[in-house]
Amino acid sequence: MTTATTGGRTTVRGVVGTSRTRVEGREKVTGAARYAGEIPFADLAHGWLVLSTVARGRIRSVDTEPVLAMPGVLAVLHHGNAPRLETDYVGLLGIPPDPTAAVFQNDRVPHLGWPVALVVAENSEQAREAAEALVVAYDEEPHDTRLTGAHPDAYPAAGVMPAETEKGDLDAGLAESPFVVDEAYTTPEEHHSMMEPHAATALWDGGRLEVVDSNQGTTWIQGELAKMFSLDESAVRVRSEHIGGGFGSKGLRAHQVSAVMAATVLQRPVRVVMTRRQMFSLAGYRSPTAQRVRLGADADGRLRALDHRSVSQTSTVYEFVEPSAGVARVMYDAEAHRTANEVVRLDVPSPTFMRAPGEAPGSFAIESALDELAERCGVDPVELRLRNEPETGPVSGLPFGSRNLEACFREGARRFGWDGRDPRTGVRRDGRWLLGTGTAAASFGAGAAPSTALLTAEADGGFTVRISAADIGTGARTALTMIAADALEVAPDRVRVRIGDSDFGPAMIAGGSMGTRSWAWAVTEAARELRERLALGTPVPPEGITVRSDTTAALGSLAQKERHSYGAQFAEVAVDTATGEVRVRRMLGIFAAGRIVNPLTARNQLVGGMIWGVSMALHEEAVRDRVSGGLYAPDLAGYHVATHADIGDIDADWVDDSDPEDPVGIKGVGEIGIVGAAAAVANAVWHATGVRHRDLPIRPDRVL
Ligand code: MOS
Repeated sequence: MTTATTGGRTTVRGVVGTSRTRVEGREKVTGAARYAGEIPFADLAHGWLVLSTVARGRIRSVDTEPVLAMPGVLAVLHHGNAPRLETDYVGLLGIPPDPTAAVFQNDRVPHLGWPVALVVAENSEQAREAAEALVVAYDEEPHDTRLTGAHPDAYPAAGVMPAETEKGDLDAGLAESPFVVDEAYTTPEEHHSMMEPHAATALWDGGRLEVVDSNQGTTWIQGELAKMFSLDESAVRVRSEHIGGGFGSKGLRAHQVSAVMAATVLQRPVRVVMTRRQMFSLAGYRSPTAQRVRLGADADGRLRALDHRSVSQTSTVYEFVEPSAGVARVMYDAEAHRTANEVVRLDVPSPTFMRAPGEAPGSFAIESALDELAERCGVDPVELRLRNEPETGPVSGLPFGSRNLEACFREGARRFGWDGRDPRTGVRRDGRWLLGTGTAAASFGAGAAPSTALLTAEADGGFTVRISAADIGTGARTALTMIAADALEVAPDRVRVRIGDSDFGPAMIAGGSMGTRSWAWAVTEAARELRERLALGTPVPPEGITVRSDTTAALGSLAQKERHSYGAQFAEVAVDTATGEVRVRRMLGIFAAGRIVNPLTARNQLVGGMIWGVSMALHEEAVRDRVSGGLYAPDLAGYHVATHADIGDIDADWVDDSDPEDPVGIKGVGEIGIVGAAAAVANAVWHATGVRHRDLPIRPDRVL
């Protein structure tokens, strides 16, 4: 914040747009910030989940007696004795609950790693030892865990968006096109792998259920638990103060539900923490995809026909669709245009939202195909994309809120040094390394969801914001402090932001790249109202003056538009053709993602997404063993994520894109960083080597 004196009047210029370190940063780096699994409770018992060792079948028996005799063991919950849950409801996000979280309701085992029991003991070591000793017998059935694009059981499925869209005559459009691309692309099963595992402690406190948890939305989890346990929402409180990453995985899961069950049965606090290995079957993941893209274009690279079909997998108990074919509905128009998301039910764990669900794998396919089209037409890949900028939403026909993709490409190309790039492949060398550059476009929805906020003017001159926002590591708490300070026209050190408590009222989750924008809207509205109250000269009583905002009406009155953030990704790779090693030497992402609240943490998020894109392009792959139906090495030794040593010179920046519809100008930066990043790397590998990689990850054995 800066102050300036003009004509004797001191004005405060905002802090929004200036870099600020996290308000809780010191607490976090000194270990003072407590995460869900480390908050102490008196009389705490520990639950350990037992997961199935077969991929399909029925539980024949659970031999609890020997385990109950082991030291410290208090209870063994399983389908034979666990409380019955209500699961026939539609949750906050408009979707039914994943039965993987509604634990111990029947004897069916739909995949390997399915929760079959919870062993509760006085300490976690005793619980673990007993859980490992518990004998569960199964009647096994044959299983199918293999996804292919041609799987006979694939069917169109909607999920969060329509399954299919179609306009024009695709066959005619392709037949008339002088240049055609028709290729298949695959992406593997990928896992969120956030640093902090899922952890929850449940306890009954004076007739009220309290759950201290690590999640992306406390009122979300409150609502789900209330419905599942048939409780009034006011009888459930969920708190989640610090969260070590979420990426879509930190919703309602087996750990919270089993902890609540055990706390109810034992009438004492119970904590359940997932192990890293358990997360690979209990925490959701990104489905593998098998995609096919067909593009037809004029000689100048303008699209006449576009067809994008994606097949993903889901479990037999829950339908989750990875909507990879959705990207083209926003990004590229053609007279003949078809997109389809299909899904196959397999004997595998339920997938879920994972950072840029749909856009991340979908952009790999479509942005690789665009690059192949550029090659065939002899048009520069940046120029090809600019020639295909649509006037309105290709499928919706709606006007764009704002679409500054061209500015991203122009600025990115300039800063990356794209102009003058030699389009030939395999011609640039640095010793044993072949060098190449690649680009790709990015987009992600920019929405806002209704939220409420409480704002109090304290008697001491300070202000307290209370909102059930979640800071999953993004810096949301800091962003909201800055936004509140500006809206109140006070210095940020006079503002205290409290988040992560369902008692603060309903608010958007940290998801869909909509968290900060949705919460900021509510905080801004509350601040406006509070300032009006204070302007009346009302003295602040000892208990303060509190106002409550609700953005439901404001958001409901917005015009229908196609609202997205955009970006242009650029990558330079070096490929060692003797070892097959690919190194990303340079990467630059330029984004049009609304007004940037805190450049320090926004850059952090964007670069984090880009690093994940590099990881997706080169490293990440969970391999399912068809015989057992489980993963090979489901841990961070077997599942490779990019480390510092894998990342070269990387930067993210943005163009001016303040959203005029938003009170702060925000769009959202949560997910767009990963979109297009893997395609930019793959396109650069092609430029370096002349070989197209249509299957991720680009492992050394695939390069050779
Ligand atoms: Mo995100 S995949 O909406 O947490």
